[in-house]
Amino acid sequence: MKHFTSVHHIEDLDELLLLAKNIKSDPYANKSLGENKTLGLLFFNPSLRTRLSTQKAAANLGMNCITMNLNNEGWSLEFEEGAVMNGDKAEHIKEAAQVISQYCDIIAVRSFPTLTDKKKDEEEQVIQSFVKYATVPVISLEGATEHPLQALADILTIQEYKTKSKPKVVLTWAPHPKALPHAVPNSFVKMMQMAHVDFVIAHPHGYELDPEVTKGSIIVHNQEEAFAGADFIYAKNWSNYNDYGKILSQDASWTVTPEKMELTNRAKFMHCLPVRRNQIVSDAVLDSEASIVIPQANNRTYATQAILTQLLNHEN
Ligand code: CP
Repeated sequence: MKHFTSVHHIEDLDELLLLAKNIKSDPYANKSLGENKTLGLLFFNPSLRTRLSTQKAAANLGMNCITMNLNNEGWSLEFEEGAVMNGDKAEHIKEAAQVISQYCDIIAVRSFPTLTDKKKDEEEQVIQSFVKYATVPVISLEGATEHPLQALADILTIQEYKTKSKPKVVLTWAPHPKALPHAVPNSFVKMMQMAHVDFVIAHPHGYELDPEVTKGSIIVHNQEEAFAGADFIYAKNWSNYNDYGKILSQDASWTVTPEKMELTNRAKFMHCLPVRRNQIVSDAVLDSEASIVIPQANNRTYATQAILTQLLNHEN
C-alpha cells in the first residue's frame, strides 16, 4: 500500500483486520517502528475523533506528529493548474506539498466536499493534489467522497460484536438538519461489499448514493423491512446525490427508535459520530446497551495504527 485514500487501497482485508486486532491487544508492541518518523496531520475541516485517534495511533508507534489547521493557520492554497495567482491564494499546492514532504514521512489530509461542485468533489481535488505533488505516502482523514479510516474501524467493530459468521448489516439513512457529505456512507458501502456480511441499504426514494458505489448492493426504501432480522444498524445521514448537496427530506419517520430496533435480531446500533440526538437516533437507543458507538470510536485508533504500520513497513 503506497497511499490510503480509499477503502479499495486495502490489499488484504483479513490480514489488515488481524493486524488491527493484534495492535489492539498490545498497542505499544511496535513502539520503535515510527522512531524518528513524522506524521503531518493537515485539517481543512473540524474533527474530534480523527484528529485525536490518529495522534494517539502515531504516538503508539513512536512517531512524532505535527498538526495544522490549514484553513485558518496556513497560507490560502491554490489548487488550479496554471492559475494566475493575483487573488487571495498565496501559495500553490505544488510547492506546499513538496515542502511538507520534507518535514513529514507521511501526510494525512482532511478535506470535505463543497457539496456545490460535484465534479470537483468527485475528483477529490485537494487530496489528489497532495497525492500528485507530495513525495511521501498520503492518508485520507476524510475526503470529499470517502472516509476509509472510519470504514476500517467500522468493520473491525462489526467483527468484534458479531454473533454469527455472516451477520445482516443495514446502512440506513436518517434525518439531519444540515447537508452532509457522502464520504462515510460511500466508504461503508465499499467496505461491506468486501466483507462477509448480508448487506442492505435503506433510504427514502430520491436519496440514492452514487450508483457506481452501490452497484451490486441491495437497496430498499422501506426502513422497517430492512431492519427485520438485522444484526447491525448503521445510521447515517447524507444529502442528495442527484440534486447534489440538497436536503430534500427531513422525514422524522426515519429516525432510529426503540420500536424500530425491536424489529431487528437484537441489533447493535452504530454511528461514526458526531451524532444529532433525536434526529438521527433517539436518546433511548443511543443510551441503551444496543449502542456500540463508543467502542466503535475507540477502534479508530487501532484501525489507523494498522494503516500507519503497513505504510511504515512499506517505506522501510
Ligand atoms: N467520525 C469522525 O470522523 O469523527 P470526527 O469528524 O470528529 O473526526
